[in-house]
Amino acid sequence: MKKIISLVLISVFSISISIAKEGMWLPMLLKSLNESDMQSMGLKLSAEDIYSVNQSSLKDAIVSFGGFCTGEVISDQGLILTNHHCGYGQIQSHSSVENDYLTNGYWAMTNKEELQNPGLTATFIVRMEDVTDVVLEGIEPTMTDADQQKMISEKIKILTKEATEGTHYEAYVKPFFYGNEYYMFITETFKDIRLVGAPPSSIGKFGGDTDNWMWPRHTGDFSMFRIYANKDNKPAEYSEDNVPFKPRNFLPISMNGIRKGDFTMVFGFPGRTQEYLTSYAISQIKNEINPKQIEIRRIALDIMDKHMKADAKVRIQYASKYASIANYWKKWIGENNGLEKAGAIDKKREQEKAFMEATAGNTSFEDLMNQFRHRYKTIEPYAIARSYFIEIPYRKIELFSIAAAFRGVLEAEDVSQEKIDALKKSVEKHFKDYDSDTDLELAIALLAKYKADLDSKFVPNFYSKIGSNDAAFYQKIYQKSLFNSKEKLLAMLNNFSSSSAKKLKKDMAYQMMTQFFQIYNDAIRPEYSRLNNEIDSLSKIYVKGLRDFVPGKYYPDANSTLRLAYGQVDNYKPRDAVKYDYFTDTEGILEKYNPEHVDFDLPEKLVDLIEKKDYGQYADDDGYMHVCFTASNHTTGGNSGSPVINGKGELIGLNFDRNWEGTMSDINYDVEQCRNIAVDIRYVLFIVDKFAGAGHLVKEMKLVKD
Ligand code: ARG
Ligand code: GLU
Repeated sequence: MKKIISLVLISVFSISISIAKEGMWLPMLLKSLNESDMQSMGLKLSAEDIYSVNQSSLKDAIVSFGGFCTGEVISDQGLILTNHHCGYGQIQSHSSVENDYLTNGYWAMTNKEELQNPGLTATFIVRMEDVTDVVLEGIEPTMTDADQQKMISEKIKILTKEATEGTHYEAYVKPFFYGNEYYMFITETFKDIRLVGAPPSSIGKFGGDTDNWMWPRHTGDFSMFRIYANKDNKPAEYSEDNVPFKPRNFLPISMNGIRKGDFTMVFGFPGRTQEYLTSYAISQIKNEINPKQIEIRRIALDIMDKHMKADAKVRIQYASKYASIANYWKKWIGENNGLEKAGAIDKKREQEKAFMEATAGNTSFEDLMNQFRHRYKTIEPYAIARSYFIEIPYRKIELFSIAAAFRGVLEAEDVSQEKIDALKKSVEKHFKDYDSDTDLELAIALLAKYKADLDSKFVPNFYSKIGSNDAAFYQKIYQKSLFNSKEKLLAMLNNFSSSSAKKLKKDMAYQMMTQFFQIYNDAIRPEYSRLNNEIDSLSKIYVKGLRDFVPGKYYPDANSTLRLAYGQVDNYKPRDAVKYDYFTDTEGILEKYNPEHVDFDLPEKLVDLIEKKDYGQYADDDGYMHVCFTASNHTTGGNSGSPVINGKGELIGLNFDRNWEGTMSDINYDVEQCRNIAVDIRYVLFIVDKFAGAGHLVKEMKLVKD
């Protein structure tokens, strides 16, 4: 009897554990959905300690960093920690060949030396509210989509206005579960965020694109910033009079080390997941969209790489662009391999079959899967053309980007001096990181690919003028175009008149860009959006059906709102006979060290410290300096820089990546294969203190050791 009970318990327990590790949960629902589960896994706090409106809680230490990453407050003086790759654009923008902070790192030794970053923000969540009832009141399924959307946006406008009236807060409302629910977030955004420190790329980006998305990893992927506020501790634009922000809360740092099985949670702003896609959608992503985007990016990367290797200036100019193109290029490859290996499409087909069985007899769902199938078939050419538009003329040809930046001024009736001045600034900024030869080569290769791969209805008519020699045609465009010359553009803007506007509009680069946009706006976007909206409406029905009829614990897809994922420190087995350990140490850094390879070069001082085992207070009890670790927290892009927090609410690591086998988790989470990768917080402190000599920063923090 006892044996039977324990067997039953084990199986129930293992189900709940495996479910528990998947999901990105809404902080305000932790109490009802997750608290007991989390506590059974090792959480020592209550849901209220993590998210509370009434008292300071962990959420008050978490910021959306610039809207694209996460950061956390780690001192009572507004010091925030995020990834090196999140601060990369800022570090790069302060860098030049003479002052190369990308290569050498940067450390402010006093507050005065902290560098301002115009445009960079840090946003706290003040509170969130379930506003589903208000938003959906009076919305009838018989109304057209457009009418529904109109009514919904009006209500959202009123809600956010009421919620922020008389305060310096802002608010947004977002749909969850494809519009079955709505939540409002009240936010406080700080605008004076200064760069405090960053290690050299040989530490912060150690392993580079070779190791990106991979385990085992040895990257010190962190950088530090500080939030500044006005004298009243409120957000303010940059001013010399601003002072370090006094936060409502900050994370203490655990010096106790990390062991397999330890409870972990990741608190941050995951960007986008699509866990409720149908098999039709996944097959389109896997067989059409991903392979095409991978191909386009490979071409772009090879060209950029060639020019970067040939010229030190181009290396710096294109470093950040290269990294971001390479990042998803590699992610999509991993995602496709993972989907294949997991048999994700078949798995979804089975789930769809089970769904149809569970809802049998219910007419709302009878034809649902056919509807999906039909829509995906129809949308496919438009989805592919849209990818090509975004990946090629819109994002990779910068001659077009700068031409597009002129549209506001060239198409307007009157132009204010203010607009002209802003445009001048954009021109300066654009040319700082622009290399005409690189851009030309990208144009030659990618614009040819655009035409070769797409139906003629998606191809603008300037192509008919190209003749037999593509390269010669584009060379001439680049030679002649005003948009290829900073001096000419600035001269035009300094003396702006209707005749300069005319000239610029006649420029071939401007015309080509305009034609691409026209094609997109007339031949691609309308049909794509129409079908995509229909797919969203079907998805709303599907997800509601799943939640009503198929038992399970459902979490909403990531949508850049604050979420908590929880799991445990864990290793994984990528393939037969191979088992990875859950942490790496500095011995592994030396194993990878290769001065001949940019991705694996190291600063001499770090080699020295490691060889002498001069780890200070930061080594593990095992005597080694641990570097990175893996855990089973469900994360995605946007979770970069998120804190990995232990059961007591202390910082143990900084999230920065996922394993390659697990990058499919945006579509198909698999508890056996999906891991997030974090840098051990003790390695971060070791670099700050022992390597950079910025121990004063560590003194600002609160280190705890039992
Ligand atoms: N893969 C990580 C993330 O998605 C790190 C990216 C850093 N960029 C790079 N190309 N190494 O963003
Ligand atoms: N590196 C990613 C980011 O920038 C996080 C890794 C992931 O996608 O899980 O947000």
